Amino acid sequence: MKILVVGSGGREHTIVWKLSQSPNAEKIYCAPGNYGISKLAECVDIKVDDFDALTAFAKEKEIDLTVVGPDDPLVAGIVDAFEKEGLRVFGPRANAAIIEGSKVYSKELMKKYNIPTAAYEVFDNSADALAYVKEQNKYPTVIKAEGLALGKGVIIAQNYDEAAEAIADIMDKKIFGESGNRVVIEEFLTGPEVSVLSFTDGKTIVPMVTAQDHKRAYDNDMGPNTGGMGTFSPSRTYTDEMAQYTYDNILVPTMNALNAEGRTFKGIIFFGLMMTPDGVKVIEYNARFGDPETQVVLPRLKTDLLEIFNAVVDERLGEVNVEWEDNAAVCVICASGGYPKKYQTGYEISGIDAAESRGDVTVFHAGTKGADGKCVTSGGRVLGVTALDENLDKAIKKAYEAVGDINFTDMHFRKDIGIK
Ligand code: AMP
Ligand code: GLY
Repeated sequence: MKILVVGSGGREHTIVWKLSQSPNAEKIYCAPGNYGISKLAECVDIKVDDFDALTAFAKEKEIDLTVVGPDDPLVAGIVDAFEKEGLRVFGPRANAAIIEGSKVYSKELMKKYNIPTAAYEVFDNSADALAYVKEQNKYPTVIKAEGLALGKGVIIAQNYDEAAEAIADIMDKKIFGESGNRVVIEEFLTGPEVSVLSFTDGKTIVPMVTAQDHKRAYDNDMGPNTGGMGTFSPSRTYTDEMAQYTYDNILVPTMNALNAEGRTFKGIIFFGLMMTPDGVKVIEYNARFGDPETQVVLPRLKTDLLEIFNAVVDERLGEVNVEWEDNAAVCVICASGGYPKKYQTGYEISGIDAAESRGDVTVFHAGTKGADGKCVTSGGRVLGVTALDENLDKAIKKAYEAVGDINFTDMHFRKDIGIK
C-alpha cells in the first residue's frame, strides 16, 4: 500500500515509524513531515490545512490510505474532503471530531447519555459567567474556552480574581479568537489522571494501553502548561477494575452516543480521564492520537498498525486481535530553552545516533529540520526520547541515559518524567 501521513510532529513520526514496520507498507509519504520522518518517508511540502493540495497529491500518487495526525484539520473536515474525492482516509469526519472541537458539544453529549464527567454550565457572555462564579463562590473552579486553543484553553482559577481574569481574557479580549465565544465552567475534580486512547470503527471500540502525560514545563508540575513534556505507559494507578468500569460506562457509551446522534466516529478517540474518589470521570475527549502519548503507546503495540487502520476504515475492527507487549515505555521531551514561551531555533543537534544505539531507545523528532545536511532545531518541542524496558523504573533510567547523549544549545527537559 501507498500511504500518506498528514502532520509534522513527534506523534506523526511515531505513526510513520510504526507503519514502516508493516510488511504491507510499500511507500510512505508525509505532509509536511520533519527531519526524522524524512529518514522513513518521503516528505512533501504541503500544509495540513491545504485540503485541495493534499487530495490532489493523494490522487496523483495513487495513495491507498491517508492517515491524519493533528486535530485542526480533522475538526475542519479533512476526512470529509478526502471522502468526497473517493479517497480512503483514517480519521473522524468533522461531525464526529466535534467531540474535541467543541467542549460545549462534548459536555452536552456526556450529560445526555449519562457518561460520568464534571458538573458544568455553559455561558455565551462574560457578565453571566461572572455572576455564576460569584454566586457559586466555590474554588478552585475550572474555566474552559469552548474551542481549540493549543491545549491552553483551560484555566483552574483559585479565587474570584483569577476567574474574572480568565473569563475576560477568553470572552472579551478573545485571546483564543472564536474558540472563546462560549465558555464551560465546571466543577473542580481531584485524582490522578490517565489517558486512554482507543481505536474505533463505530461498531467496536478497542482501548490501547494507558499513558500519562506531564503538561507543565518544569519539574514537580511547576511552570506554564505545554503541549506535553513527557509521558509514560502504563499508568501506575489505573486498575483492571477501573479499566472494566471505563469500558462499560465511558468507552462503549461514547461510541453508541455518537452513533445515536448520527455522528459515527471512525478513528482514534482519546479519553482524558480522572480517577476521582467518586470513580473514573471524563475530563476531555480528543479526536486523534495524543502527542506525546503516542510515543509511548505505539512502541508497545504488537499488532500491525496498518492492519488496524485498514480494519477501522473498512468497519471490521472486531475481526482484528489487537495485542500489546507486557512492558513499559517512557518518553522524555527535549525542548528548546524558553518553551512554551519565547525560544530560539536553528541549533545543531548531536547525539541522536548514540542514544539510539543503546537498544530499545527511539528518538522521535518533533521540531527538527535539515540544514546543510545537519539536523537542527525548528520548534519548541524538539525531540521525544522513548525507551522500552520490562518495567517503568528501568525504562525511566534508560530514557534518561539516552537523553544524556543528546545535546543542543539551551536544551531543556524535565528530570521527573514517570517518577510520580
Ligand atoms: P483539558 O484541556 O480539558 O484536558 O484540561 C487540561 C487539564 O486541566 C487537564 O489535564 C486537567 O489536569 C485539568 N482539568 C480540566 N478539567 C478539570 C476539572 N474539572 N477538574 C480538575 N482539573 C481539570
Ligand atoms: N498530550 C496531550 C494531547 O495530545 O492533547
